[in-house]
Amino acid sequence: MYKKIFIKTFGCQMNEYDTNRIYDSVKKIGYQKTNDQNSTDCYVLNTCHIRDKAKEKVYDEVGRVKKLYRNKNKPLMIVAGCVAQAENQEMLKREPFIDAIIGPQSYHKFNDILKNYVPKEKQEETQFDTITKFEYFDEIKNKSNKVSAFLTIQEGCDKFCHFCVVPYTRGPEYSRPFEQIIKEAEELIKNGAKEITLLGQNVNAYSYKKNLKEFRISDLIHHLNKHNELERIRYTTSHPKDMTDDLIECYSSCKKLMPFVHLPIQSGSDKILKLMNRKHTVEDYLNIYNKLKKINQQIEFSSDFIIGYPGETEKEFNETLDLLKKIKFINSFSFIFSPRPGTKAAKLEMINKEITKERLIIIQKKLFNNQIELNQSMKNSLIEVLVENKLKNQNKYFGRNKYLSSVIFNGDEKKIGKLIKVKIEECNQNSLFGKIEKNNMRAA
Ligand code: SAM
Ligand code: SF4
Ligand code: F3S
Repeated sequence: MYKKIFIKTFGCQMNEYDTNRIYDSVKKIGYQKTNDQNSTDCYVLNTCHIRDKAKEKVYDEVGRVKKLYRNKNKPLMIVAGCVAQAENQEMLKREPFIDAIIGPQSYHKFNDILKNYVPKEKQEETQFDTITKFEYFDEIKNKSNKVSAFLTIQEGCDKFCHFCVVPYTRGPEYSRPFEQIIKEAEELIKNGAKEITLLGQNVNAYSYKKNLKEFRISDLIHHLNKHNELERIRYTTSHPKDMTDDLIECYSSCKKLMPFVHLPIQSGSDKILKLMNRKHTVEDYLNIYNKLKKINQQIEFSSDFIIGYPGETEKEFNETLDLLKKIKFINSFSFIFSPRPGTKAAKLEMINKEITKERLIIIQKKLFNNQIELNQSMKNSLIEVLVENKLKNQNKYFGRNKYLSSVIFNGDEKKIGKLIKVKIEECNQNSLFGKIEKNNMRAA
């Protein structure tokens, strides 16, 4: 008789990837994934520490689970991910309902936690042991059977932007061996992946050295581009400083690399970028933009912005607005600065909350307008879509265009995993709506 495990995942795509790898791993010891959080033997929260009251949110979540199981046998409660790494023992002391905590670089020990579970005995695994983690996962097949699959190639960060917890929660930069990644990519493709997104906290810092040769993310892209069964390649999240010419060149020679670059800039002010310890200027960013646009005019940019960083006056905020006039960012994110415990920026004087909120509204409105404009421009046109799945409880299908925008359309089961053309009829900020064209030849 197998046992059940339920994992609730927060945060970035890397957490999503980790969750799936944990599901793959626990099968070895008789655990199976369940979607029913009300009746599980093991309940895992895979947490994110990047913003807001991350820690308090985890305690609220644990409180919610506690209520679910008030009149039932308690499941083994595990807190995993970046909050577990940052808070470690504190969580076990504060909330007795939690049985174990495990940091993101210790997932090779996940099965041991399950096997060693003794009620009332607490377990903690928060070492940075990335090499062993990936060696361990290399032995376990990646069972993802998604059309669009994630593949972590790099973990951690050495850049230490003053606002960010990632270097503390994920540890130092580590790049997986080239062959290990290719092997996993082959598995994913064999299981039906048509799109692979290479993942890393600093994905374009990927650097693996063997026999005096350095392998970069560009080498991985070139390799995957040759694979007949694969249709699309993406990567995220990248840093402007690592946007090297070999990667930029891929946009010319690798047709499967999507013309959509998510490249966070954070601010349009050099003063703020310096205060953030970003290690790049606005000019550096514009140079990358111009180089890529020269290669292919169709390339669109997406970014992350932090609003209200300590030291941001009206002048610096206006510089960010000026940047928005130069680059028409799409599919972008903007966040109010959130002081994170242990980071340098946490000690700086915060700027007025009301002013920050006003600035966020202004920037979000501009980003929203860009998105609406782009989506409107696609109305009545045929766009290429990779069909991912059927929507739950609806006779509609879901896919994405080259810019990662969601497309919802009337389709049929046979189109899943295929590149098709959809005629766009309607749109809102988040999605495009349309129908499959009768003549469904692959779009050029
Ligand atoms: N490595 C990427 C880069 O260099 O830009 C970013 C990865 S981070 C996980 C994702 C985004 O979270 C960042 O681009 C930043 O905009 C946002 N972020 C990180 N720390 C933040 C903080 N303390 N307050 C607000 N937003 C934050
Ligand atoms: Fe965080 Fe990205 Fe800066 Fe690293 S480079 S510290 S992940 S924002
Ligand atoms: Fe969050 Fe950790 Fe990802 S802090 S954004 S889950 S690396």
